[in-house]
Amino acid sequence: MPVDVHVVDHPLIADSLTRVRDASTPNALFRQELERVGNLLIAEATRGLATHEVRVRTPLTETIGRVLTSQPVVVPVLRAGLGFVHAAQELLPNADVGFIGVSRDEETFRPKPYVNKLPETLADRQCIVLDPMLATGGSLAHTSELLLGRGANMTIIVVCVLAAPEGIDLLRRAGLDLAIYTAAVDERLNEHAFIVPGLGDAGDRQFGSPA
Ligand code: PRP
Repeated sequence: MPVDVHVVDHPLIADSLTRVRDASTPNALFRQELERVGNLLIAEATRGLATHEVRVRTPLTETIGRVLTSQPVVVPVLRAGLGFVHAAQELLPNADVGFIGVSRDEETFRPKPYVNKLPETLADRQCIVLDPMLATGGSLAHTSELLLGRGANMTIIVVCVLAAPEGIDLLRRAGLDLAIYTAAVDERLNEHAFIVPGLGDAGDRQFGSPA
């Protein structure tokens, strides 16, 4: 099963990503720019959603339009993934939203789960995972396993801002079926498993550091 990585090359994403990376960008602007990147990435990530024809009456005549055949399930990974929820709901107003809470143990870098609020069954549902950072890949591997446990049987779409090569390798070794849409694949992880050059901690830069 493949892990396909799509680096979305778009001047507006590049422009916003530069401010997202900039350490001097204040949190309020960081959230705005992150949402802008998310909006553009989600538009690209949903390009393959199935549609079917319907008849529609315009003010002048009747014609054929297309509508989404089914509604995806959007899954933000807390906390940082919350920064993409508004963009996802703007573009997919009828999507269900499930929540996964995972924090990364800063000593072992292993994922520590704390929330699982997903629809009972995900069979034949298109899942779209939102998490700005794909570092070691542990959080995404954990999230994917939870989705598979609920019956997800379609390629899982993942929207992130930055991915590290080490994380992509881990997901490939795990044999997951993922389509990852990201603004960039960065150079590497540092000794603290932070993405370099990166953007810092996407959760803290949106919401501050919890005590
Ligand atoms: C960060 C980030 C991802 C995860 C990526 O979350 O938002 O969810 O780490 O790292 P990984 O690929 O090595 O698992 P963090 O644990 O810092 O929690 P937060 O979103 O609450 O800040």
